Amino acid sequence: MVKIAVLGYGTVGSGVVKVLNTNAKLIAGRAGEEIEVKYVLDLRDFPEDPIQSKVVHDYSIILEDPEVSVVVETMGGTKPAYEFVKNALLAGKSVCTSNKELVAAHGAELIHIAEEKNINFFFEASVGGGIPIIRPLNVCLTADKIEQINGILNGTTNYILTKMAKEGSDFDVVLKEAQELGYAEKDPTADVEGYDACRKIAILTSLAYGQQVDYEDIYTEGITKITAEDFKYAKAMGAVIKIFGSSKKIGGKLYAMVAPQMIKSDNPLYSVDDVFNAISVTGNMLGDVMFYGKGAGKEATASAVVSDVVDAVKHSAEHVKVKWEVEKLEVSPMDEMENRFFVRIGAEEKEKAMADFDDIAVIDGGVEGEFGFVTPKMTEKQFDEAISDFNTFKTRIRVGFEG
Ligand code: HSE
Repeated sequence: MVKIAVLGYGTVGSGVVKVLNTNAKLIAGRAGEEIEVKYVLDLRDFPEDPIQSKVVHDYSIILEDPEVSVVVETMGGTKPAYEFVKNALLAGKSVCTSNKELVAAHGAELIHIAEEKNINFFFEASVGGGIPIIRPLNVCLTADKIEQINGILNGTTNYILTKMAKEGSDFDVVLKEAQELGYAEKDPTADVEGYDACRKIAILTSLAYGQQVDYEDIYTEGITKITAEDFKYAKAMGAVIKIFGSSKKIGGKLYAMVAPQMIKSDNPLYSVDDVFNAISVTGNMLGDVMFYGKGAGKEATASAVVSDVVDAVKHSAEHVKVKWEVEKLEVSPMDEMENRFFVRIGAEEKEKAMADFDDIAVIDGGVEGEFGFVTPKMTEKQFDEAISDFNTFKTRIRVGFEG
């Protein structure tokens, strides 16, 4: 019998207990041993819930109990999660976490401690909720050079953009609806400004290249400025607008960003709608491979956490190698990244646009008084310089993510 402790009895933590109870026998069969939750750490009490008999408020009880061999961290944030997780590892307990803030900021260090202690630090649920992506990157895609990763990594923003596309509504209207339905937080900043997706692409990129990629170095643009008019042009192009976490290596240089992009129907990520997430990974031998599923939610995320617990039990006397060195991998300046841009300007500057940009594709979005076009591939710097000359510039959205 393996005894575990769960830190934080919120959505994911209570989901972990539910998954372990619901599939207890099956999970025991796969792990090779029964798994019992011995403690749940939370500031709160849950008098109506059978879990109450296991609730503790003092972390040292868990830390000092030699019977607890696996700690599940589902608190979120880095304070006090970082200290709790680090101390659990130093005490020789494996840790499974769903916490992307923690993994993005301290993943390399925590993996290193786990390696020294011959235990494991697993974090499957930190990216893409229930979608298997961390283990595939770490175990299945090890024969390939990863050329690029493009992911719809945030359920809230994908829900909002899908609704905007289908209903023709503006961002604020759909955000309010999403909040009423519980798909967006009261404070939606981390989702709608792209910060959540930024941590997730930082984790995936660090794993893909085996080195620390700091999320602070990744250019991040949210969806708050996307309008119903932008979707009119997207429709005219046969495209949708999605927010992607993207990274790619070109000629030894790493580029990464979080930003809305227009993609066309021939892109496999085109139909990923509502709260679903999907991640496309391109390997130099394998080509494209795509992972799709529920990127958030109680049971789906908890399923990924429990799969880590099973893995930790199966490898109780062995560290599973995860290559993620502390040494930082530099992200190339955003200025140097090449993209194509969809642009909206006032109709009065149409001739100037035709003259200043070579080979533009004109897009008729049916918006009066405007001129819409797509530029050829150019660097971000070249685009910023060219567009700074326009008095009627309204907006720009990057197009596709090929090459
Ligand atoms: N707020 C996140 C999302 C939760 O919407 O995807 C899962 O990380």
